[in-house]
Amino acid sequence: MRTIRLVSALRVFLSLLLVQSPWQSSPAVVDAAGGGTWEVVVENAGIASMHTAVTHYGNVVLLDRTNIGPSQLPLPKGVCRNNLLDRVSTHDCTAHSAVYTPGTNNIRPLFIFTDTWCSSGQFRADGTLVQTGGDADGNSKIRTFSPCSSSGSCNWVETKTPLQLGRWYATNQQLPDGTEIVVGGRSAFTVEFVPADGRGQYNLPLLTATNDAQNDNYYPFVHLLPNNLLYIFANRDSILYNWQTHTTVSNFPTIPGEPRNYPSAGSSVMLPLTASSGWTYAEILICGGSQFGAYLNPSRQLPASQTCGRILPLATNPAWVMENMPIRRNMGDMILLPTRQVLIINGAENGSQGWGFATNAVLNPVLYNPGFAAGTRFQTLTATTIPRVYHSTANLLADGRILVAGSNTHQFYTFTQPFPTELRIEAFSPPYLSVGARPAIATAPAALGYNKGFTVKVTFAGVLNGVIELNLLSAPFVTHSYAQGQRLLQLAVSAPGKVSGGKYTIKSTSPPSATIAPASYYMLFAVANGIPSVAAWVHIS
Ligand SMILES: *[C@@H]1O[C@H](CO)[C@@H](O)[C@H](O)[C@H]1NC(C)=O
Repeated sequence: MRTIRLVSALRVFLSLLLVQSPWQSSPAVVDAAGGGTWEVVVENAGIASMHTAVTHYGNVVLLDRTNIGPSQLPLPKGVCRNNLLDRVSTHDCTAHSAVYTPGTNNIRPLFIFTDTWCSSGQFRADGTLVQTGGDADGNSKIRTFSPCSSSGSCNWVETKTPLQLGRWYATNQQLPDGTEIVVGGRSAFTVEFVPADGRGQYNLPLLTATNDAQNDNYYPFVHLLPNNLLYIFANRDSILYNWQTHTTVSNFPTIPGEPRNYPSAGSSVMLPLTASSGWTYAEILICGGSQFGAYLNPSRQLPASQTCGRILPLATNPAWVMENMPIRRNMGDMILLPTRQVLIINGAENGSQGWGFATNAVLNPVLYNPGFAAGTRFQTLTATTIPRVYHSTANLLADGRILVAGSNTHQFYTFTQPFPTELRIEAFSPPYLSVGARPAIATAPAALGYNKGFTVKVTFAGVLNGVIELNLLSAPFVTHSYAQGQRLLQLAVSAPGKVSGGKYTIKSTSPPSATIAPASYYMLFAVANGIPSVAAWVHIS
């Protein structure tokens, strides 16, 4: 026992020594020119997606709520929802979920019975999307979606096992043991696990402590750190949490500025974990939010937060380092790009989350380079023409584009200006897609265990500058401007052995453990000169 304690104390000590930015030696490549391009890929998806997730078939699950009356996407002939508990329409022959296929842009309606409004989810190790909670009859439901190719007919399954507590506005995070933790929700100051595996619900004092007059603790930000503890942030406070002993390990300083969670609507990512740090370096970035009171007094349209904060949760004395975004923003989605940059997209400059509670949509995404010197990290990108405010989403596709869906700041489907219910789907191509020839993955393993050597063959027509990076990205469950379960793993790579012409062979090693990479399907991107390939899906387990 004693030896184990000493060894783990030594480990913690060693990991603290290693807390220094792994990006300084290899900063992300600057985008040569331009600010990216927008295209409308679907003129009318029929539904406004409030929750969106990319499956390992490359197609995308769109999920709205059910009790909003008819959508514009009919269910297949003869299929209707006859749900006597639906508050709006007990007989509804339209879909509230769908599968979108990038490329063909096809939309296939899915059938979902109980209400999924403001729910949460995560992909399981086998690639099944496990979605939990919602409103009304869906409040304690667990539903699964086992994805299939775009010619398949897979659909939602409502499981018989309920959540232990009804949850609305919770956050899920996949864990190294193959289950997912479900954190919080409206008036739900506990965590639980799906599947529970004999575990109960456990109080989370952080949620009680951060439950202010406008409940700024919905959709907490949850990140699985490389030492197997969870970083959990709600309102303006955060903790280290041991999910195995159900205890709070330590408290972090309060972030300066505005509240950051629903309804104040900031967002958060864990910056890339890196093999070069021995998988010990972790840094959290939180951006945007709304002033306290913006939700309580929406008519005031208070200006949104302009700040981001960075913190090293594994450092000896963690402290927030603040910086300013070029544009104020609430409801911004933060998306980790294959190039290790962060895209902040969607949202508004005034107000807060809530129906009709925001104005002054932010149409320009901004790009954040975590490895650059403070003051030089942001780049403002090309604006869209379509506001994406409350209930909109953004997801990285395997082809490197960002799929932008939803926006519905009304209770029902309402097509009045300035923010009509938005049924168009857009794709944003970041600047990296217009700077030159892209690398392509010729061969990569389809499945990998932990800590396994492997080889990837890449073709690249350009003049290679430095190494070809191999970066793994999880496919998160995105809702309410937060991507649940999002993580980027920058693998170790050999110097690219050039075979002939533009053919390169790169040797790498898979992530060391399920703590670094919970078993799942990941998108493997090869990145040459700051330009990503199309990803290959790799199953890590
Ligand atoms: C909206 O926010 C901007 C700052 O981004 C501020 O100048 C403006 O006064 C705000 N609008 C209102 C109505 O307060």
